[in-house]
Amino acid sequence: MTTTTTKADATAEPAARETVLDARGVTMRFGGLTAVRDVNLTVNSGEIVGLIGPNGAGKTTFFNCLTGLYVPTEGEVRYKGQVLPPKSFKVTAAGIARTFQNIRLFNNMTVLENVLVGRHTRTKEGLWSALLRGPGFKRAEAASEKRAMELLEFIGLADKAQHLAKNLPYGEQRKLEIARALASDPGLILLDEPTAGMNPQETRAAEELIFAIRDMGIAVLVIEHDMRFIFNLCDRVAVLVQGQKLIEGDSQTVQSDERVIAAYLGEPIDETPKAAAPAEDAAPAAGDTTEDAAETEADADAPAEDEAPADDAPAEEGTPADDAPAEDASDADDDTPADAADAAKDAAPGKENDA
Ligand SMILES: Nc1ncnc2c1ncn2[C@@H]1O[C@H](COP(=O)(O)OP(=O)(O)O)[C@@H](O)[C@H]1O
Ligand SMILES: [Mg+2]
Repeated sequence: MTTTTTKADATAEPAARETVLDARGVTMRFGGLTAVRDVNLTVNSGEIVGLIGPNGAGKTTFFNCLTGLYVPTEGEVRYKGQVLPPKSFKVTAAGIARTFQNIRLFNNMTVLENVLVGRHTRTKEGLWSALLRGPGFKRAEAASEKRAMELLEFIGLADKAQHLAKNLPYGEQRKLEIARALASDPGLILLDEPTAGMNPQETRAAEELIFAIRDMGIAVLVIEHDMRFIFNLCDRVAVLVQGQKLIEGDSQTVQSDERVIAAYLGEPIDETPKAAAPAEDAAPAAGDTTEDAAETEADADAPAEDEAPADDAPAEEGTPADDAPAEDASDADDDTPADAADAAKDAAPGKENDA
């Protein structure tokens, strides 16, 4: 994997930048609850954009509106200038891929097969060809497999291609989800908490992976709770609070914004012993180094992952109901409470549009 650990140079050839994602006035209501309120967000080619905010702020709901899992109550989502139809398979075909906060893999399929599933939107061979298994089909299959293996190589899972997905450690399951998303040849990838449950080494590797994805020419929109990760990675960060966009800007601007500190990062910015230096810790000013501020915030934020509420709708994207998401098989217990909440939400009105 070749990596670049620098942010995109925002000043480089601004004219060459294309607006990949353009979400305008996106609002999502569930009965009396407005989960997302009038959110505008753009992602340009070559960019990594972060979306942060407290639990329940509406981040995943916003992703669901972007990817056709939900039909926004109001607003419009464009991908490369075209209004997206609210159907997830059409959104994927258009060029937006995603991963889920609660991992959704095909447990009992191999690692390679999981990536091949992500490939199907790009396979042109039709039903008859597949049924007859003629030469065209075999060629297409071989090409898909080659591409899938390249992607597994890219994310570092090639040697586990024949392992069952459910037998992968949690961090590798997250990577596999990314490989599956990449298999649809997206122009934009949406990552919902890609490092949740990862250890610091895995998180660092995920950061490199995301830079490498960006360098492949894929724009990235990423939700994450790990502030150090976000502020290091992103060219731009938007903050959602109670469904509304509070602020958007570069990492430095966002992490030193008083409202962000108050509304999101909260009071206990640093509970570690070095809290003895209160002035800096309590309010990172513009003069603070990015790293210090991010580190402090990351520490304060760490426990939040364990309380992350459930959010994702169940596998609408063609996932067979009997092939449960691999999260159950993983060793990450932080996802367990999600199931109950998922079930509750499943019963909520207005959720599904893409059965
Ligand atoms: N399908 C749904 N039906 C009803 N309420 C929902 C549904 N999905 C999310 N919500 C609610 O919307 C709010 C935002 O949730 P979510 O988007 O998961 O937040 P985040 O990802 O920022 O933690 C929460 O109050 C959540 O309970
Ligand atoms: Mg979420």
